[in-house]
Amino acid sequence: MSDGALLETGEPLEYNPFLPDVHEDPYPLYDRLRTEDPVHWNAPGIWILTRYADAATMLRHPRMSSDFRNSELFQAFREMSGQAQLDEREPSMLFRDPPDHTRLRGLVSKAFTAKVIDGMRAHIREVVDALLDDVGERGEMDVVADLAAPLPVIVICELLGVPNEDHATFAGSSADLVHTLDPMVGLDVIERANASAVAFDQYFIDLIAERRAAPHDDLLSALIAAEEEGSKLTQEELLTTLILLLVAGHETTVNLISNGTLALLRNPDQLARLRTEPGLLKGAVEELLRFDSPVQLTGRIALEDMEFGGKRVRAGQQVVALVGAANRDPAQFSDPGRLDLGREESRHVAFGGGVHFCLGASLARAEGQAAIGAMVARFPGLEAAGRPEWRETITLRGLRSLPVSL
Ligand code: HEM
Repeated sequence: MSDGALLETGEPLEYNPFLPDVHEDPYPLYDRLRTEDPVHWNAPGIWILTRYADAATMLRHPRMSSDFRNSELFQAFREMSGQAQLDEREPSMLFRDPPDHTRLRGLVSKAFTAKVIDGMRAHIREVVDALLDDVGERGEMDVVADLAAPLPVIVICELLGVPNEDHATFAGSSADLVHTLDPMVGLDVIERANASAVAFDQYFIDLIAERRAAPHDDLLSALIAAEEEGSKLTQEELLTTLILLLVAGHETTVNLISNGTLALLRNPDQLARLRTEPGLLKGAVEELLRFDSPVQLTGRIALEDMEFGGKRVRAGQQVVALVGAANRDPAQFSDPGRLDLGREESRHVAFGGGVHFCLGASLARAEGQAAIGAMVARFPGLEAAGRPEWRETITLRGLRSLPVSL
């Protein structure tokens, strides 16, 4: 059976994001799942949700846990693989439930409010302009390597207070860590991620010592102050939070900028529209987030038996919301496969929902608007120049490279 045959009605329905056709373009499979089996029981024992309404319910449900240690499947996998011996660190806020989640998020949320991010907009534009100045003369660029990848690392490192000369260290290590977000990762991937986490830890332990001796006006110094108060943040939680901010804020934003640019290049009428109506920029970035979402899925574990679409989900079972599919649900968005930068209804779930709603959403939006806005304004001849290549990651959907001529 060819990969493509799986997408046709009548063939057995299975969510397998590793198949090359599905990886390249998952949307036909999402449509089939949503139509034929919207609450789908998939190997190796995970519920897959593709309807917007079900995804939105799952994300906000108080009895849906983000702590994978509650998952029967996770525990079984752990025992089988011996993973328990590898890394026993406490998970970050992303994988914790209230009240620990509330405490950890509360400590950093002040640094990410829309007001703080508004104050950073001019600087973000300066960073974008400097990156584009470097390529302007060449007449061509790789949107990923030249703009989308460096921008979020520079911004998050500056926000945290990581010195300029150390920014490059983070790009490679965060790529290793990001793989751990994927389903069914192998031991080699976990080992590489653990090695990166240890390297991150060592880097930050040294930097924390410096900041403790001489605090700066940065997020790292603020978090150290919280840790020093003792009851709010342990040293291990401080390190885990720093790693989360770097990882969650990096490739997600790379994917927004590069997937968004690709969508515009593939829809030249919309690209032209944005050029003539720059006032559409804010809404355009929301539509690009909906259309080809940088984060395609997120999981929860049922803490009690419950029902989704007439099916019984048992306590301890894992449920995955394909937010990329929810964002293409015709019950929520009219003509969802069409990129429409002027779309009125933009209640997409690309940033999740409920208590774990993306902490960095304002920052990501500001970076996406600055990067895409500047490219469209500065390069009237912007055109695809070669085949885009997708990264192998599943949870995060994004390009390895996107060559363009200017
Ligand atoms: C376009 C870019 C981004 C996308 C699409 C995105 C998407 C998401 C999603 C879907 C979640 C929720 C996951 C869940 O409920 O299981 C999330 C959580 C989170 N994001 Fe983002 N994100 C982006 C950028 C950023 C940035 C720039 C930062 C920070 C620098 C960031 C920090 C976080 C953190 C800390 C969480 C965990 C929040 C919590 O558990 O309460 N994200 N993000």
